[in-house]
Amino acid sequence: MATTSQGQNTARSLGAPNDLESFWVPFTPNRAFKHAPRLIARAKDMHYYTPQDRAVLDGAAGLWCTNAGHNRDPIVAAITAQAAALDYAPAFQFAHPKSFELASRVAALAPADLDRVFFCNSGSEAVDTALKIALAFHNVRGEASRTRLIGRERGYHGVGFGGISVGGIVNNRKHFGALLAGVDHLPATYSREHQAFTKGEPEWGAHLADDLERIVALHDASTIAAVIVEPMAGSTGVLPPPKGYLEKLRAICDRHGILLIFDEVITGFGRLGHAFAAERYGVTPDMIVFAKGITSGSVPMGGVIVREGIYDAFMHGPEHVIELFHGYTYSAHPLACAAGLATLDLYREENLFARAKALEPVFAEAAMMLKSLPGVLDIRTVGLAAGIDLASRPGAFGKRAYEIMDRAFNDIGVLVRVSGETLALSPPLIVSEAQIGEIFEKVGRAIKAVG
Ligand SMILES: Cc1ncc(COP(=O)(O)O)c(C=O)c1O
Repeated sequence: MATTSQGQNTARSLGAPNDLESFWVPFTPNRAFKHAPRLIARAKDMHYYTPQDRAVLDGAAGLWCTNAGHNRDPIVAAITAQAAALDYAPAFQFAHPKSFELASRVAALAPADLDRVFFCNSGSEAVDTALKIALAFHNVRGEASRTRLIGRERGYHGVGFGGISVGGIVNNRKHFGALLAGVDHLPATYSREHQAFTKGEPEWGAHLADDLERIVALHDASTIAAVIVEPMAGSTGVLPPPKGYLEKLRAICDRHGILLIFDEVITGFGRLGHAFAAERYGVTPDMIVFAKGITSGSVPMGGVIVREGIYDAFMHGPEHVIELFHGYTYSAHPLACAAGLATLDLYREENLFARAKALEPVFAEAAMMLKSLPGVLDIRTVGLAAGIDLASRPGAFGKRAYEIMDRAFNDIGVLVRVSGETLALSPPLIVSEAQIGEIFEKVGRAIKAVG
């Protein structure tokens, strides 16, 4: 075991239980982190607290997930009670009551006939599940030639092999071999030239959906299973869809019998002021992928909501035979279901989706106040999400944003998300107007301090 006494001392002085060497921190520069770790020991409502009990305002809802705020009492109570009542029930061939209850509640929030819910444990699993359902759906209907999957440049769909194949982030793909065969990508919807400093959905860019027709012409519709997009691309810097873009995608998919999957892992559960972005845009996909906000980040959970007709297509053959050979040991885990039910109650009781919608103009206005700071190239906002693009230092892409995130956490007391040279803000939906002001004032201070 590679431990150093120096490492152990550092860890102890930080209140960490052990040395810092063993844990391989995901999506993190490990050497820099272990040299100067950013540790979080507890949380409540809008704040994180370091091991030294220094408060840090959460400008990112953790990783876009704690939409109801942190450690909310009803969620904590539900998880505690569930842990005492039922730790685990087999997920295959058996079930527990709360899995049905939560599925019904999720279906009730989804638009149109998106009525059947398959549970997983993360967004990545949910994406791979949706892609597999799409392929299997065409197969059981006798259209097995529909195997091609279409993603989009700058899309993020988690880290499974399916997700990175349809995803469009080069660093997430380039080290991992040939990926899935038969994947094409639509162009990204972002253009700084045409869209810079837009609040909400940009006017320019709906025509980019027409590229799907080019892909259909190239491969023939009979080979294409599904298109998957984030209605608003979150992880590559908050890229709202151009006005009319999603409608166009829907129409082209309809024309060619292609399934449309919305990855709403970030946009689901209120981020854009509605239960799902599908509702905000009035576009009904064939499947919605969700995770994160379903339990407000408290217990891992993800899932896929499918249209009734897709589920029905599988319900043939002898009744004792499994219809879809897919599932996870922890699908619909009792703790996750209990947390999910308590979270959905909170969203409803506190009207948090409508709250996000009402705060959208305040949030957008506060974000745009940073427009004239040095090195700010663009700011985009939609719902309670904002992306701030920064100019890179020569030869050091991402360093400026990284330093701002670090400074903001350590010295200024606000947690921001960083992705490449973009800062992303997406606070819990319980954020107050004053806290919105505080978040952007602090981010502005961090930008100026780092320079
Ligand atoms: C749109 C989208 N899809 C999928 C994922 C993957 O989710 P997870 O990290 O839970 O696997 C994410 C995570 O940020 C996401 O933003």
